Amino acid sequence: MTIIHISAECYPVAKVGGLADVVGALPKYQNSSKVSSQVIMPFYDNTFTKENVFTTIYSNEINLGNTLVNFNVKTLKEKPLDFEVFFIDVPELLFKDYVYSSDDTNRFLAFQIATLDWIRTWKKHPDIIHCHDHHTGLIPFMLQESYKYEAFRKIPNILTIHNAQYQGWFSHIKVGLIPSFNFNNVGLLDWGGTINPLAAAIKCAWRVTTVSPSYMEELKVDANGLESLLSAENAKCSGILNGIDTDVWNPETDHYIIKNYNAKTINIGAEANKRYLCDTFNLDFEKPLFAFIGRLVGEKGSDLFPDVFKIALERNNLNILLLGSGNSFVEQQLETLKKDYIGTYNAFIGYDEKLSHIIYAGADFLLMPSRVEPCGLNQMYALRYGTIPIVRSIGGLKDTVIDISKENGFGICHDNVTVLEIINAIDRGVALYKNQSKYKKIRKKIMEIDHSWDVSAQEYINLYNSIN
Ligand code: ADP
Ligand code: GLC
Repeated sequence: MTIIHISAECYPVAKVGGLADVVGALPKYQNSSKVSSQVIMPFYDNTFTKENVFTTIYSNEINLGNTLVNFNVKTLKEKPLDFEVFFIDVPELLFKDYVYSSDDTNRFLAFQIATLDWIRTWKKHPDIIHCHDHHTGLIPFMLQESYKYEAFRKIPNILTIHNAQYQGWFSHIKVGLIPSFNFNNVGLLDWGGTINPLAAAIKCAWRVTTVSPSYMEELKVDANGLESLLSAENAKCSGILNGIDTDVWNPETDHYIIKNYNAKTINIGAEANKRYLCDTFNLDFEKPLFAFIGRLVGEKGSDLFPDVFKIALERNNLNILLLGSGNSFVEQQLETLKKDYIGTYNAFIGYDEKLSHIIYAGADFLLMPSRVEPCGLNQMYALRYGTIPIVRSIGGLKDTVIDISKENGFGICHDNVTVLEIINAIDRGVALYKNQSKYKKIRKKIMEIDHSWDVSAQEYINLYNSIN
């Protein structure tokens, strides 16, 4: 069985968030003697493409409306990844030093059309086309409706929704950019008067998955306008919880962290990483370290951080360290806060893969007060590194973290995203830290929780088999 994952991100090639981690791991876990799982993604102008050598295996041009646009398909010449990756190089549109921007409609349309035009030339068609998020959402529509892809009608395709907040909306004025189709079916592209690639994919894909079971249920009542569509298409929808790549995220072998460790050696290992963080960011080693890693956007609850941090830091019984970027107003507030809490608070505004690993290893608690969290990988990384997650019970967080007050509990959960509830949760963390024997026992225990991709990768294979 040949599976093609089509995605805008894939770790370690290009990463903005969790989508990259998923597409960079799932194919590896799907590959077996019977399955060949491959990735098709854009060729960006970034560190990875600068540092690697590529071979061009195909060149042609696509029609983007009336404009002819050149594209190449490239593969890695050396140092292959654990699965085959094909890069769609559209020099004019995709070869940029960013993944997403304001001109995404034309960029990702070109990506999707070039991908299908190229697959059309394959001697043997793939058995499954697996699309990820709205950047690839027009593929199920084109496979079903565009005349030029008629030979593809029988190829089963799947859409995985990693985040329904972003839908890729664009005006019907641009409909001519989509390879021609029976215009009687233009309604399949539409949701609420605009072209909505995510909605089109939900309508046309053979199956739709979300990245956790709880998120699937939540989307039926809150999906940024797509609630009724998802309810109507319920029969073909399911939630499959993401896994984590336990080779990349392994405190015993992680080359980014200061000292490697396992569940037996966590006390020494985590301590060395915490000490490094405290030295580097001028924090107090004796106090518990609460961290946040992520995008500073409303979905993550980050607009409440300035207030939450101020109140928590005034109590003078903890440290807070933040790694993230996003909303510039929040960024600025978080920067300003530094001068008021020298010695117990610091923030690195930006993106830093290495630092993120050290934080997972060295922090005592990881904060995730998300308003929306389709799955969330950070809490699973935290667990594997023995850092206790403090989460708002929603989406994938609800599916992966059990509160310490419950049987077999190991995390701290709160129900609502309010300053008060987040502060209460932090206070519970401080209290737990004071009880060092309980805290250390939980830390060891969470490292053993298995969130590897093995189970979920197989669930996807079962889904493919059900439609193949
Ligand atoms: P989302 O995809 O919504 O951002 P996830 O929890 O699924 O959230 O995944 C986020 C991924 O991005 C994790 O691998 C996390 O470590 C990483 N990440 C987020 N922000 C940063 C940052 N500023 N620096 C380094 N890694 C980051
Ligand atoms: C999205 C979601 C996040 C999820 C990730 C990977 O970015 O916001 O919750 O973990 O995709 O599926």
